[in-house]
Amino acid sequence: MSGLEIRGLRVSFDGFTAVDGVDLDVRAGDLRFLIGPNGAGKTTLVDAVTGLVKARGSVRFGDEELLGRSVHRIARSGVGRTFQTATVFEELTVLQNLDIAAGAGRGAWTMLRRRTSVPEEVATALDTVGLAELADSPAGTLAHGQKQWLEIGMLLVQDVRLLLLDEPVAGMSHDERQATGELLRRISEERTVVVIEHDMDFMRSFARSVSVLHAGRVLSEGTVAEVQADPKVQEVYLGHAATEDAGDLAVREA
Ligand SMILES: Nc1ncnc2c1ncn2[C@@H]1O[C@H](COP(=O)(O)OP(=O)(O)OP(=O)(O)O)[C@@H](O)[C@H]1O
Ligand SMILES: [Mg+2]
Repeated sequence: MSGLEIRGLRVSFDGFTAVDGVDLDVRAGDLRFLIGPNGAGKTTLVDAVTGLVKARGSVRFGDEELLGRSVHRIARSGVGRTFQTATVFEELTVLQNLDIAAGAGRGAWTMLRRRTSVPEEVATALDTVGLAELADSPAGTLAHGQKQWLEIGMLLVQDVRLLLLDEPVAGMSHDERQATGELLRRISEERTVVVIEHDMDFMRSFARSVSVLHAGRVLSEGTVAEVQADPKVQEVYLGHAATEDAGDLAVREA
């Protein structure tokens, strides 16, 4: 398993610096939550790691430097992400979506040959994300939460080793959130997981470690308890350093 090591990461848009010198270490197998107010630079950081925006500094996953590589090469290095809005093929079935994702690294001939049976990695992913019974349903008929699980399944069939998930439980019911948290726990037994999230209850229940981003910088880092007790974090979330009930971070409404 590999960890993520970010040094001096900087992203600017027309003179505005969205990520302003971030150092971040996520050890292999961690389930790291990345929190912070709107506009803190969380999505931009993930965009930089996955090659979608130009950045300066260094991003190492395992032995490889990712910065400067193309989006495709970064994906081939085992790094995958989801977006704030789901991006599944709605008119194709769950199985077809997974099959296409699995085939992303294969030639057309292999795809054709494997048509008649379900590839092992696809069957495993179906079980892991709990969609085996819906394998033949069009993705468009899935509930909101199930679409997010399908997207995560699409990363698993590509054997992504570093998953970067952008607000995976936004809009989910309590039960769906719980199921998602348990899914992320299972996944992080074998892979490194970074979750951007605004849902503080979800973060408290499932984070193994937390980094707080604010104005493009890492404001605080540690366990859930450490971060919640940090006056700098309370100030950003509450507008003042809370004296009582110090652990209660404000929950943002989207
Ligand atoms: N392509 C872009 N061009 C110009 N500015 C951008 C671009 N993308 C992001 N920004 C700006 O960079 C800052 C960080 O945005 P980012 O989307 O990374 O925040 P975030 O922490 O993900 O916020 P949210 O919690 O709302 O998703 C914001 O001020 C945003 O307006
Ligand atoms: Mg964002």
